Amino acid sequence: MIEKLRFVVSVWILLWGYCWGRFVVEKNNIRITSPNSLKGTYQCAIGNFGVPKYGGTMIGSVVYPSENQKACKDFDNSPFKSKPGGFPTFVLIDRGDCFFTLKAWNAQKGGAAAILVVDDRIEPLITMDTPEEGSNSNDDYVEKINIPSALISKALGGSIKKALLKGDMVKVNLDWREALPHPDDRVEYEFWTNSNDECGPKCDMQINFVKDFKGAAQLLERKGFTQFTPHYITWYCPDAFINSKQCKSECINNGRYCAPDPEFDFSRGYEGKDVVMQNLRQACFFRVANESGKPWQWWDYITDFSIRCPMKENKYTEECSDQVIKSLGVDLKKIKDCIGDPAADADNLVLKAEQDAQIGKGPRGDVTILPTLVINNGQYRGKLEKAAVLKAICASFQETTEPSICLTPDMETNECLENNGGCWQDTSTNITACRDTFRGRVCECPIVQNVKFVGDGYTHCEASGALRCEINNGGCWMGTQSGRTFSACIDDRTKGCKCPPGFRGDGVRSCEDIDECEEKLACQCPECKCKNTWGSYDCSCSDGLFYIRENDMCIGKYAANSGGNGGLIWLIIFLLAAAVCGGYAFYKYRIQRYMDSEIRAIMAQYMPLDNQPEVHNQAHNAL
Ligand SMILES: *[C@@H]1O[C@H](CO)[C@@H](O)[C@H](O)[C@H]1NC(C)=O
Ligand SMILES: *[C@@H]1O[C@H](CO)[C@@H](O)[C@H](O)[C@H]1NC(C)=O
Repeated sequence: MIEKLRFVVSVWILLWGYCWGRFVVEKNNIRITSPNSLKGTYQCAIGNFGVPKYGGTMIGSVVYPSENQKACKDFDNSPFKSKPGGFPTFVLIDRGDCFFTLKAWNAQKGGAAAILVVDDRIEPLITMDTPEEGSNSNDDYVEKINIPSALISKALGGSIKKALLKGDMVKVNLDWREALPHPDDRVEYEFWTNSNDECGPKCDMQINFVKDFKGAAQLLERKGFTQFTPHYITWYCPDAFINSKQCKSECINNGRYCAPDPEFDFSRGYEGKDVVMQNLRQACFFRVANESGKPWQWWDYITDFSIRCPMKENKYTEECSDQVIKSLGVDLKKIKDCIGDPAADADNLVLKAEQDAQIGKGPRGDVTILPTLVINNGQYRGKLEKAAVLKAICASFQETTEPSICLTPDMETNECLENNGGCWQDTSTNITACRDTFRGRVCECPIVQNVKFVGDGYTHCEASGALRCEINNGGCWMGTQSGRTFSACIDDRTKGCKCPPGFRGDGVRSCEDIDECEEKLACQCPECKCKNTWGSYDCSCSDGLFYIRENDMCIGKYAANSGGNGGLIWLIIFLLAAAVCGGYAFYKYRIQRYMDSEIRAIMAQYMPLDNQPEVHNQAHNAL
């Protein structure tokens, strides 16, 4: 038994070593927007769990906990939950001591919106993976992780910690928009899987995904939006072991195509070669269905086979499979031809093609992790779950060519429901910059009733254009008192708020009435009586004099009545008249009446005088 195990282990190490050579780490961008000293774009590696927001971006501020810095323990009281109006928290966690998945799970429970794991050694970025089977950590929490995760370099982590220590706020934008290629209006994707249904959580995850995703996959395929291909990983038996009992049990075609024993025990249950045979049957099923123009039938075959022919019930057999194929109406003979003779010492064309495809091409590395999803030749990282995968596929269409399934409400992330997604919102009108899409929520200033809002979408949006005062008064102050309304919105400018005359303030939140009387801004002449009103003031003059607002002075009623717009001219004339009149009264009292008529003559040039004596009085008063 020990020897058997040693053999299995050595073969696996051999194969893993070979495969790790071209393992590609999927990266996305992390952009630091503040503090200035850290501003820039850096790379991080997307974890193989959680839900990356493919096609989207996410903004948050970084927090480095003062204790439990490796997040191997629970955080008490959700310390990372962002306050209303605050940015989502990206928690910075050190690598080491426990699984990446446990760190992410603890961070998520603590209220973090994303986890940034700081590498603990200087090395190229790696992909954080879920724990392998048998590590007794396959608690179901891995399935529940739904925050995105990223590994950042030790150097970047150090700089961020330093900035935080100095009291700087570190704002970060995680960007997955270029994480998967999106060249055209058809998405090609591959699912690397395995027909073994008894390998624990990883096998359960695969079959559950197929069952769940079937509906969406078939819809996308039927309408020509996607081209899906299933793939199967097989291994070869090293030449030296071809005649060993182990390879005979695990391989077909004389050691060319092998799979590990489902129970890791050659003496009981199904053998590795049973799994290879079923993988081959599934690959052939796809080829035949694809040739008949119905490639989506593969999804039916896989789900039906797993329901009708499970290993547990000893039905993982060719007969059971044949029944499923027949009930789906697919040509069984063609499939048998495709499978060929597993005992032959010759290549099987289908499995040979699969082995070749396993080796990375272009941007895609070798496929070594089961299951693996490849979308547009980029490796998908994240949870194998319907909504997450559909989102990634949707994000792989060129923008605006997404099929309608991508734009349905259940594809929305509903991130706007919580804390308005961290976007700008006007609380008085509920106008929000948060928009839910399958690409994740976006903070974009909206267009409401033809009024375009402009701003960063996070902390600030304001209405722009000619109609801007129509909505929420352009975000400016507006007040009404006893039937009078004043507004700080300026219609004919593109932006800005300005308190109207008679008010002062920022024009946005408040405009305060100016007390013109108190502040001696108007109505200050000796005859004036000043009374402040809201937005203005009242001024009255004593003894029947009339207040001229433009000049802020009192003059005679009649002059004012007829003067209209010439207040200042009248003032000069009155003063002149008074001086002339006074002079003559002093030196030549006797010709007063004559002078009166002179004055009348002067005045008559400007207006018809119908009441001479009052003008006379006025002149004297002025003296
Ligand atoms: C499936 O059919 C399409 C179109 O007929 C073809 O391009 C593709 O290569 C086929 N896939 C496989 C695995 O045979
Ligand atoms: C804004 O939303 C809140 C909560 O949904 C609601 O109570 C309020 O009436 C809304 N206000 C307006 C102006 O629609």
